Amino acid sequence: MKLSKYGEHYTKGSGILDLMDDLGKALSTDTNMLMLGGGNPSHIPEIEQIMQEEMQRIIDNGEFGKVIGNYDTPQGNVPFLKSLAKMFNNFFDWNLTEKNIALTNGSQNAFFYIFNFFAGEFKNGSKKKILLPLAPEYIGYSDIGITDDFFVSYKPEIEKIDNHTFKYKIDFNNCKITDDIGAVCISRPTNPTGNVLTDDEISELRKMTTKANIPLIIDSAYGTPFPNIIYTDATPVWDDNIILSMSLSKFGLPAVRTGIVIANEEVINAVSAVNAIASLSPGGIGASLVKRIVQNGSIIDLSKNIVQKYYYAKCLKAFNSLTKKLGNIDFYLHKPEGALFLWLWLPNFPITSDELYEQLKKRGVLVISGSNFFPGLNEDWKHKNECIRITYAQNDDIVEKGLTIIADEIKSIWRCS
Ligand SMILES: Cc1ncc(COP(=O)(O)O)c(C=O)c1O
Repeated sequence: MKLSKYGEHYTKGSGILDLMDDLGKALSTDTNMLMLGGGNPSHIPEIEQIMQEEMQRIIDNGEFGKVIGNYDTPQGNVPFLKSLAKMFNNFFDWNLTEKNIALTNGSQNAFFYIFNFFAGEFKNGSKKKILLPLAPEYIGYSDIGITDDFFVSYKPEIEKIDNHTFKYKIDFNNCKITDDIGAVCISRPTNPTGNVLTDDEISELRKMTTKANIPLIIDSAYGTPFPNIIYTDATPVWDDNIILSMSLSKFGLPAVRTGIVIANEEVINAVSAVNAIASLSPGGIGASLVKRIVQNGSIIDLSKNIVQKYYYAKCLKAFNSLTKKLGNIDFYLHKPEGALFLWLWLPNFPITSDELYEQLKKRGVLVISGSNFFPGLNEDWKHKNECIRITYAQNDDIVEKGLTIIADEIKSIWRCS
């Protein structure tokens, strides 16, 4: 097969392809592998029940044909966009209209569009990049750029909270917006670390991006107000210079592929234009399923009272269990402030995180090596090979079994070194 430069670029292999392949195969086949690697959200019974009732209501009301039988506009289902705008305005002082919102086929899809809007080659011959102010960052950004050399990222400051807990912070002394930066992006909460950037950090990034006249992209796939998988205080923000990306996936609907972009009208028009070219229109099933809970605002309460509580209980269990199992060895867990992951740092560990990943795979546990989560940070830094990401979204007994093996393997590698 002879491929264009574009074809070669996107088929040469990527971390996210391997990850999603592993995840999809494991979820669709009978395997004994303990899946503590991928980012599939939990099946939360209460949320599944509500979604099932919504689907039943759609069928009973005779709306099913309309839901599956019509294309929406390239921007998404307009009555749904209006309901979203109204709901956000009720809770926050954002002054949105439906012209500030577009749907995409998952938020990953939105990042593909938006990153390539603001980085890459420009008409005047200049090249711009996306600045990721805090490494580690989401593996799914890594291979998105149509051109190579697409990201710049900076080493974080590491704040040690106690003997076994730490937190990353943006190093604002180093992190600067230079002329070759087209946009700044952060995930809040951060995949892979569970870090939540503080309101002060967000405020500083807003000042920097406004001054440089470039957008601040906030990836709120786990954020407020839904799915609200945040265990610390974090104020949701939006203004004309912020592109806020949200998703229904971690609320419990990854299969319906619904991303939500909130931005100024110019950006929304651009997203709609590419939606039309790339996929005619975004899928409408997600919008139909959550239409009522958006109209009555209960998606916000469900997120806070069901989704957040559910993950927080799992998070505490996994954090305490792993801390106990690792005992006195030299380890740090990132303070878990949100998302679905524990981020384990093993300073001076005798083997790399890629090698540890392989060893654990042999023992039937899938995690993700931390080395995958440093897009744009090209400098050598030992820390990049000393961390693993562990997902705690699976059933508690699977998580517990996986953590037992992980701790056992780590201790035995230390003993043999
Ligand atoms: C930080 C972050 N952003 C975006 C996405 C994309 O999610 P989706 O395309 O399902 O909305 C994910 C998925 O895991 C994620 O972790």
